[in-house]
Amino acid sequence: MRTVYVNGVFCPENQGVVSIFDRGFLFADGVYEVTSVLDGKLIDFSGHMARLRRSMSELSIPAPASEDELLSIHRQLVDKNALAEGLIYMQVSRGAADRDFLFPAGDIRPSLVLFTQTGQLRDRPAAKTGLKVVTLPDLRWARRDIKTVQLLYPSMAKTEAKRRGADDAWLVEDGFVTEGSSNNAYIVNADGALITRPLSHAILPGITRSAILRLATETGLTVEERPFSIEEALAAREAFITSASSFVMPVVEIDGHKIGDGAPGEIAGRLRAIYIDEAVKTAV
Ligand code: PDD
Repeated sequence: MRTVYVNGVFCPENQGVVSIFDRGFLFADGVYEVTSVLDGKLIDFSGHMARLRRSMSELSIPAPASEDELLSIHRQLVDKNALAEGLIYMQVSRGAADRDFLFPAGDIRPSLVLFTQTGQLRDRPAAKTGLKVVTLPDLRWARRDIKTVQLLYPSMAKTEAKRRGADDAWLVEDGFVTEGSSNNAYIVNADGALITRPLSHAILPGITRSAILRLATETGLTVEERPFSIEEALAAREAFITSASSFVMPVVEIDGHKIGDGAPGEIAGRLRAIYIDEAVKTAV
């Protein structure tokens, strides 16, 4: 059984308790981060903390702990669960208060919950075979740059993608791809340019995305941050996604159409290798 962290206490996962009046539960009034762990160390931790700070500040949720304390809790969870490879989920909600749409005034303590998930991140069969995605309308709210726990539509989209025999969904707004259900989306065009949507309220600023764009530029690739259409994606040489849980994963099929020759792309493979290499070196 896992050890989890709930509001100041480490406990067995079946003993972690949050109030039924928690606003995370009643209003999805909370934010989260997912940090990957390789060789028992945290990947891109400072980036995840910076994004958490921004998410909390956009919603006026007070910080439940200092960054040093959060790092210490992450490390203790890694130790207590002997987590060599996997993910740490951290959720911060506004806390428990009488049910009212109005943000509660005054003395309310944010809830802080962390738990681990064991899983292979480095050696994933999908990295060699590639993912199939289908496109679906992006019906999420208009502040996707804030990493909130309102994940119902992404869950619906992923479930619909599975129902259609695919692995995931790419979400589309006004004919242009925003991002994947829980990852950022990229294509490589015939000229070898890497194209991904620019940051805005329309997408989550992926921590992996920021590392990948820097590494891509460093390796001499042309990076174009601009929206791309489904048509452009179908004609692409390569496609892939990035996230803390998948790092870089090739996409080999979109809406039943093969991308490139239908095999994982060379650039996606190279960026995956470089990213993992650097992530391990800079892990904390
Ligand atoms: N998802 N876009 C969305 C909508 C996401 O939910 C995520 C992450 C990303 C990639 O961000 P990052 O590179 O910082 O992980 C983009 C996490 C992994 C999840 O909810 O499982």
